[in-house]
Amino acid sequence: MKRHKTTITNLLCSSMMRALLLLLMTLSGSSSLALFDEGSGRTSHYMRRLSAGIDLPYTDPLVEAPPGENAPQQVHITQGDILGKAVIVSWITDQPSAPKVWYGIKQGDYHWVKEGRTSQYSFYNYTSGFIHRVTLDSLQYNTKYYYKIGEVTVREFWFTTPPGIGPDIAYTFGLIGDLGQSYDSVTTLEHYAQSSGKCLLYVGDLSYADNYPFYYQVRWDTWSRLIESSAAYQPWIWTSGNHEIEFLPEVGETKIFKSFKARFPTPYKASNSTSQLWYSIKRGSAHIIVLASYSSYGIFSPQWTWLQTELSTVDRNVTPWLIVLLHCPWYNSNAASYMAGESMRVVFEQMVVTSQVDVVFAGHVHAYERTFPVSNILYNITNGLCIPELNPAAPTYIVIGDGGNNEGPSSTFTEPQPNYSAYREASFGHGLFDIKNRTHAIWTWHRNQDGEPVVADSVILYNKVWYA
Ligand SMILES: *[C@@H]1O[C@H](CO)[C@@H](O)[C@H](O)[C@H]1NC(C)=O
Ligand SMILES: *[C@@H]1O[C@H](CO)[C@@H](O)[C@H](O)[C@H]1NC(C)=O
Ligand SMILES: *[C@@H]1O[C@H](CO)[C@@H](O)[C@H](O)[C@H]1NC(C)=O
Ligand SMILES: *[C@@H]1O[C@H](CO)[C@@H](O)[C@H](O)[C@H]1NC(C)=O
Ligand SMILES: *[C@@H]1O[C@H](CO)[C@@H](O)[C@H](O)[C@H]1NC(C)=O
Repeated sequence: MKRHKTTITNLLCSSMMRALLLLLMTLSGSSSLALFDEGSGRTSHYMRRLSAGIDLPYTDPLVEAPPGENAPQQVHITQGDILGKAVIVSWITDQPSAPKVWYGIKQGDYHWVKEGRTSQYSFYNYTSGFIHRVTLDSLQYNTKYYYKIGEVTVREFWFTTPPGIGPDIAYTFGLIGDLGQSYDSVTTLEHYAQSSGKCLLYVGDLSYADNYPFYYQVRWDTWSRLIESSAAYQPWIWTSGNHEIEFLPEVGETKIFKSFKARFPTPYKASNSTSQLWYSIKRGSAHIIVLASYSSYGIFSPQWTWLQTELSTVDRNVTPWLIVLLHCPWYNSNAASYMAGESMRVVFEQMVVTSQVDVVFAGHVHAYERTFPVSNILYNITNGLCIPELNPAAPTYIVIGDGGNNEGPSSTFTEPQPNYSAYREASFGHGLFDIKNRTHAIWTWHRNQDGEPVVADSVILYNKVWYA
């Protein structure tokens, strides 16, 4: 989302009121699971700081380059295939270095080595470091792998492969969107690090480098250092957002998504996609489809054509949970970016409902919002049926664009709260999608003002196919 002005006058209250509200929210937001009745949507009046966040200075240890000659930096991993038996390791060095990963299943005992490739890109007057990527494949499930990278200065990390693919595999995904690199982003990451999330589903808008003059690319480097403490140890599944477009024709930069594509590989070919920006993976009992809000999606576009085929390959006997990730929400009752996802919804929603998608996660709006299962697929221009309806067969939509970037929260909601909106609040935080088995998954949202164990919103999601 782009910067916007917020009015805070109506939200100001005395510090005593604030303390009382905080206490009330802490009590009511206890970790018990609340299942709200349909039509009883809530707008939280929890008070939080509304000013824009401040980015970490370049000298902050969290974004500084690691010490040592030509040390590998900005290390992150993502799933490297359809089934979770491959991992793509990416990192950057200032000087040339071999794109090699040494790895094994005992710390210090690196039995195998894989070689990948190195690339560089330039943007305006910036030239990137040497970007290395190596795919480790044929991995065993449910195994902790140790890996090391670098030649002069060597750094070591580890990751754990998923338990396998199957209908009753329990697995916990983390959800973060619109993170940026402010002090709020740091809190979000700190809390997520304490959670049980094993793989992060990232719903787009990463570094916000484009909020700097000439889309100052060094801010991509600082961002990638900031997230390393998580992303080097568990896969982050990438979705593109508007801040990744980086269209700057004034200085000749017309190749969109240039930095994002150079820095964040995805295993798109494995799902027969022709674009790094839309693809699918399976992990545990979930089939996850990543869509691209800023790539063409009209009928007969490559993305539309791919999605048609992709949905036909989903086997709910193997992966009961069908999850969609995209950046710009289709259901959002925040004044910020209101209806911005509407054109994509019009094209894709029928397919998503017919395919019994369980949940659609989006970012973009810097607030949290969860809907009841809702659809709006009856309208045909002449029949007037244009009001979203509660529909148990339709997905739950969750906006989790509240990672905490420097633009601040989106604090103005539309009134009255639409019937489909179950809970909404303009606080920063992260979410967890905790799959228990083929019928039950528990969604929890954790706001930054509370500690990680406190649940600010939660719901049990019943599988669309398996829960009769
Ligand atoms: C890039 O251009 C900007 C704006 O003209 C300037 O401030 C900056 O010093 C330049 N950077 C390099 C590395 O040349
Ligand atoms: C990709 O296409 C090939 C050829 O049609 C097919 O055999 C394969 O199953 C497809 N892969 C996926 C993940 O859909
Ligand atoms: C639009 O929907 C109405 C009512 O459901 C139906 O009678 C009509 O035939 C539809 N129009 C078209 C062009 O499909
Ligand atoms: C929301 O629900 C109420 C109560 O059922 C109903 O009166 C109202 O028309 C609904 N509003 C919309 C926009 O559907
Ligand atoms: C699935 O998980 C839920 C929540 O933990 C539990 O209540 C239910 O009994 C489980 N179902 C099966 C078949 O294990």
